[in-house]
Amino acid sequence: MNLFSPIHIRNLTLKNRIVLSPMQQYSAKNGVPGNWHLVHLGSRAVGGAGLILTECTAVSEEGLATLSDVGIWNDEQKNAWKNIVNFVHEQDAKIGIQLWHAGGKGSLKHPNERMKPLTPEEGGWTVKSSSAHEFNGVFAEELTIDEIQELKTKFVKAALRAVETGFDTIELHAGHGYLFHQFYSAVINKRQDEYGGSFENRIRFLVETVQEIRKVIPAEMPLFVRISAVDYIESDEAWTLEDSIKLSEILKENGVDFITASGGGFTNVSKDKVFPGYQVPFAKAIKEQTGILTGAVGMITEAEQANDIIVKGDADLVIIAREHLRDPYFAIHSAKALGIETEIPWQYKRAY
Ligand SMILES: Cc1cc2nc3c(=O)[nH]c(=O)nc-3n(C[C@H](O)[C@H](O)[C@H](O)COP(=O)(O)O)c2cc1C
Repeated sequence: MNLFSPIHIRNLTLKNRIVLSPMQQYSAKNGVPGNWHLVHLGSRAVGGAGLILTECTAVSEEGLATLSDVGIWNDEQKNAWKNIVNFVHEQDAKIGIQLWHAGGKGSLKHPNERMKPLTPEEGGWTVKSSSAHEFNGVFAEELTIDEIQELKTKFVKAALRAVETGFDTIELHAGHGYLFHQFYSAVINKRQDEYGGSFENRIRFLVETVQEIRKVIPAEMPLFVRISAVDYIESDEAWTLEDSIKLSEILKENGVDFITASGGGFTNVSKDKVFPGYQVPFAKAIKEQTGILTGAVGMITEAEQANDIIVKGDADLVIIAREHLRDPYFAIHSAKALGIETEIPWQYKRAY
């Protein structure tokens, strides 16, 4: 078993264990992915990654963080994604869509404008969360129970569109301080109803959404969930690794196949907590304690380091973000560094 061993998850077969991590490109208009997304995602497929994950993709307009994020709530968006899905498939890679709702972390300007709050004149909108809260200078209102039910429907519709588009898998983005995380972490969730308070109540929105999605997508399609394994906040209310293990067990019972163990999202993570492979222990603990497949993410940048994670069985996939920005050919270069044979696109064979 090594970084280039195939893996089967339901009917999905990945040719290796290297994943392009979701990375917002802030390059869309009206939620429609364009040429930039085709080249960004397509290059990493050409570069040999077994699985390409799209950046977080909003299930509805008010689920965007900025007006430059992508979505999958209408046919124009779906058709634009189809082109990208087809290209990735032509490279013998698989592609998953990361479905997402920013919740309270929305109505923000582009990163080039330091993600300041959008004014109504600039297209800003009212954001909603588990509880009334201020995020990045934007005030979120508390969602009503009816609105929570509607949100589940939006996720289901987006999941159906993703299936129609031809995506091989769906990942729910339930980390990084976005809507699902705003429910399961008591740091934000102060609700008094069945969606707040106890652990079971705080995870209810995510678990119910998973149940609804599992009912409508093909039984053979894998379902991934990215969580923040910890909040990286010193507080009795903070979400812990033990909570993540309990949550992963419940998600597994409800048909989730794979957990990506990321972290944080409500505050900046202090520098001493971030070092090569810093989140691998989360993937390892969740895998060991629940038996679910896991992905390790966070400062994985070297072939040997990535291979070790797989060889030791600490995680089932390595999910590479920024190193993939520096090197779209991370997978091909890793195979070369490890002395393992891998397919090179025929157009590029003369270089190898
Ligand atoms: C530009 C950029 C955009 C990101 N956008 C997303 C995103 O859309 N969804 C997500 O789950 N994580 C997102 N992340 C987090 C990465 O997927 C990854 O978890 C993080 O960068 C740590 O991995 P790395 O050390 O390999 O970069 C983003 C990171 C970067 C650098």
